[in-house]
Amino acid sequence: MGAVAENKQARRLIVAIDGPAGVGKSTVAKLLASRMEYLYLDTGALYRATAWAIIEFGVDPADTGAVTALLSRLSLHMQFHQGVAIVFVDGRDVSGDLRTPEVSAAASVVSAIPAVRAWLLPLQRQIGQGGAVVAEGRDMGTTVFPSADVKFFLEADPTVRAQRRHRELVAAGHSGALEETSADLTSRDTRDRSRSIAPLIPADDARFIDTSTLSIAEVVDQMMAVIAAKL
Ligand code: DC
Repeated sequence: MGAVAENKQARRLIVAIDGPAGVGKSTVAKLLASRMEYLYLDTGALYRATAWAIIEFGVDPADTGAVTALLSRLSLHMQFHQGVAIVFVDGRDVSGDLRTPEVSAAASVVSAIPAVRAWLLPLQRQIGQGGAVVAEGRDMGTTVFPSADVKFFLEADPTVRAQRRHRELVAAGHSGALEETSADLTSRDTRDRSRSIAPLIPADDARFIDTSTLSIAEVVDQMMAVIAAKL
């Protein structure tokens, strides 16, 4: 058993990672979680599943009243199988349907609705309550886990982020030009950073890492060095 795994018995940390789309959050969060044998809490998947349901029910994601009314009829939960999260909406596994551009755009819109954020808050905290979790999103360090043991805020040049996201989409079989991905990213960013509730901003005590010119391994190494000091 490695040093990290041994120490895990002693301290079950909450590691909070925030940042905009395409910055590498999910990739590094997954790697960290697997290295530390922690849960990987992808909170974007919860917003995406909510958006998926809203689209499925034919509700306009921007219609605050209709979205809020729908929430009381929805059940959403996340289950973990060997570290992999599966998201269920009304008992249906929607994990494979959450990465389309349509769901991405709708998730950004619905995530600005206070009732949606309030609805998802207890679920996120419940998953993180025992610690030993790497939680990734937009408001982990500021709102969901303000007392997290370690907080990171990742940033990267917008052009680099658009290229990364575009590569992911192409690999997942989506077509579409880089310019389109870049425009989608810019409008999501603007919305996520400027909304009045839980906007994308770094927590005061977050470690800032610019991933523009770093490899994934370099980012993970920097993060592990900070985490190791807390174990
Ligand atoms: O991380 P992601 O791209 O899967 O997130 C999808 C959208 O959900 C994103 O545009 C903003 C929103 N989101 C949020 O508002 N708060 C979070 N903690 C996670 C995601």
